Amino acid sequence: MATSSPHHPKPCLTMKIRDSGMPEETFWESLFDVPLVLSKLGIERFHDVAELGCGYGTFSIPVAKAISGTLHAFDIDPAMVARTLQRGAGLRITASVRDVMEFGFGVRVDAVLLFNILHCERPVALLQHASNALSEGGKVLIIHWRCDIPTPRGPAAQIRPHPDQIAIWASEAGLKAGDGVELPPWHYGLILEISDT
Ligand SMILES: C[S@@+](CC[C@H](N)C(=O)[O-])C[C@H]1O[C@@H](n2cnc3c(N)ncnc32)[C@H](O)[C@@H]1O
Repeated sequence: MATSSPHHPKPCLTMKIRDSGMPEETFWESLFDVPLVLSKLGIERFHDVAELGCGYGTFSIPVAKAISGTLHAFDIDPAMVARTLQRGAGLRITASVRDVMEFGFGVRVDAVLLFNILHCERPVALLQHASNALSEGGKVLIIHWRCDIPTPRGPAAQIRPHPDQIAIWASEAGLKAGDGVELPPWHYGLILEISDT
């Protein structure tokens, strides 16, 4: 059953990631082929999963349906948490207001979702938070807006990360990147795992 976790730090609203505001829900959800994204990232193989930030629950709800455990969704915006909880009624979802940049995830999971968020001010710190949340063999699943084509939405071009840039940040956070995947029409995906070296 979808629940709001009572045990979260008090959020600091000044830490909202740059260019992370949301357009209207229906428009936002017209921009993704959600089943394709989740299939190409192999979401069904994971048990417990954490997500920053959940937004409208665009991915949270199908992820919660696909995995065998619980989806722990976090967002700094209480309205986004409320919407995700509303849509997730009856599913195994916890949704909490939390500034993940400041406090990390506070859970241990098999996968962390960083969807449309790695244009943040401190990407290596965010990847370290994600790495700290992973159980053995866990993965960080990333999608982001392509930076090589015009897109109908997304952060400013100068702060959009290229997959090669994410791979460099990942190595600084003790993670290693696999091959990128295409997620048409507007996105790419990348899977990170904890580096052996
Ligand atoms: C661009 S939206 C992406 C939402 C979702 N991942 C998706 O792709 O549909 C970014 C979300 O991150 C949330 N956010 C921004 N800064 C945050 C922070 N420091 N901690 C947690 N959530 C944050 C925003 O409120 C927003 O809902």
